[in-house]
Amino acid sequence: MKTLTAAQIGCGKFAWSQDFPNMKKHPDVRLKWACDVRRENAEKAAAEFGVPKVTDDFMEAVSDPEVDFIKIATTHEVHLPIIQAAARAGKHIFCEKPMAMFDEEAYRIIREVRRDGVKLCVDLNRRMAPSMTALRKKWLSHKADPKHNPWQYVEKMRDPLPEENLPHLLIRIQDESASYGLGHLNPLTGGGEIIGESVHWLDLACWFFAPALPCEITAWGSSRLSHGIYLKFTDGASMTLDFTCSGTFDYPKELYELTDNAALFRNLFFVENNYYGMPDNAPEVFPMQAYSGGVREEGFDAYLRKYRERVSASSGNSKTLEKVDPFTVDKGHYAMLDAFIQAIRNNTPSPCDEIAGFRSTYLAQRAIESIGFRQTLPIPVEKITPCIE
Ligand SMILES: NC(=O)c1ccc[n+]([C@@H]2O[C@H](COP(=O)([O-])OP(=O)(O)OC[C@H]3O[C@@H](n4cnc5c(N)ncnc54)[C@H](O)[C@@H]3O)[C@@H](O)[C@H]2O)c1
Repeated sequence: MKTLTAAQIGCGKFAWSQDFPNMKKHPDVRLKWACDVRRENAEKAAAEFGVPKVTDDFMEAVSDPEVDFIKIATTHEVHLPIIQAAARAGKHIFCEKPMAMFDEEAYRIIREVRRDGVKLCVDLNRRMAPSMTALRKKWLSHKADPKHNPWQYVEKMRDPLPEENLPHLLIRIQDESASYGLGHLNPLTGGGEIIGESVHWLDLACWFFAPALPCEITAWGSSRLSHGIYLKFTDGASMTLDFTCSGTFDYPKELYELTDNAALFRNLFFVENNYYGMPDNAPEVFPMQAYSGGVREEGFDAYLRKYRERVSASSGNSKTLEKVDPFTVDKGHYAMLDAFIQAIRNNTPSPCDEIAGFRSTYLAQRAIESIGFRQTLPIPVEKITPCIE
């Protein structure tokens, strides 16, 4: 099968850290174009990653007959025109999250890709992290056939009540917010952290609890920075997100805890899963995506040691160090790219399609409305399942 030819649109920080390295590494991808409205960004990236063609006009890359798919990593407000042009030229599209900033824009994206029969993959990558797919698999097998520890101390003096034993996913994000540029927070280009970041966790909850659909949302705090979201599903499952921007990168940013049927499934920053309340409960550890230091072990404690080793040997802005010596846990970016490549080759469904992209945008906007109204809001079924040809 032929190698797929790609064009990178948007050559900023994210493209440097994930898109260029991952596409270079993928055996079935040939990266032909680096495109950025700031031409110097495209030129620098092309020189660093050996990309043959440079442009500051995405139409040039999109209309190249050799290009099979484009990767979008621009600011958020230009996704629709780029997707529109790519779809009309018959190119498949791998688009950074959020797919869109507003519902109307998301509807139009769905129409564009469906009308032109191209595949769209939105990089809501947490669902593809190896540790996250392992966590969900473990939970589903517990759900299908719950086994409890022999020492479980609950005295079963009554039948379960209806609201007992419903799955709940707790997501704790502690972030160092100085890392967000103004473009991310600007309502015209970024939209703030609910649109820019929490789409990840809204998507993750939808993926975890599918085929149940979200039916109710409550949010509080600031849509721009720190906030919380409670999302309820039609089968009684729920997700609570606690996102604080007053944290520090000195401690891992993400923690996930799913509880269900007297068991706990915990993911520690993509490097370790712990399981409690069931007999088969050995922890699982997962390799980092990029690490070049001397600690050989994997897992959460080892991650903390690796981090300490790295920061104690450096000074100044760690972002600079990140460029020359990447230090990243595996959040599923490469797996998402690979799954998308396979979907194009085998003509199978996208690993994170336009409906998933729409859903996370719609839920993020509903969360922002909930903050504005200080109210719990319904998620009507006809809204969350749009029918668009
Ligand atoms: N999936 C993840 O985990 C993850 C993590 C970080 C960032 N992101 C996403 O990646 C995207 C880029 O973020 P970033 O931090 O690299 O931002 P950035 O500002 O560093 O880079 C964006 C680049 O896009 C360019 N650009 C803007 N409009 C363009 C256009 N019309 N055509 C070509 N280039 C254009 C800008 O000049 C800039 O170089 C955003 O969607 C962000 O949300 C995703």
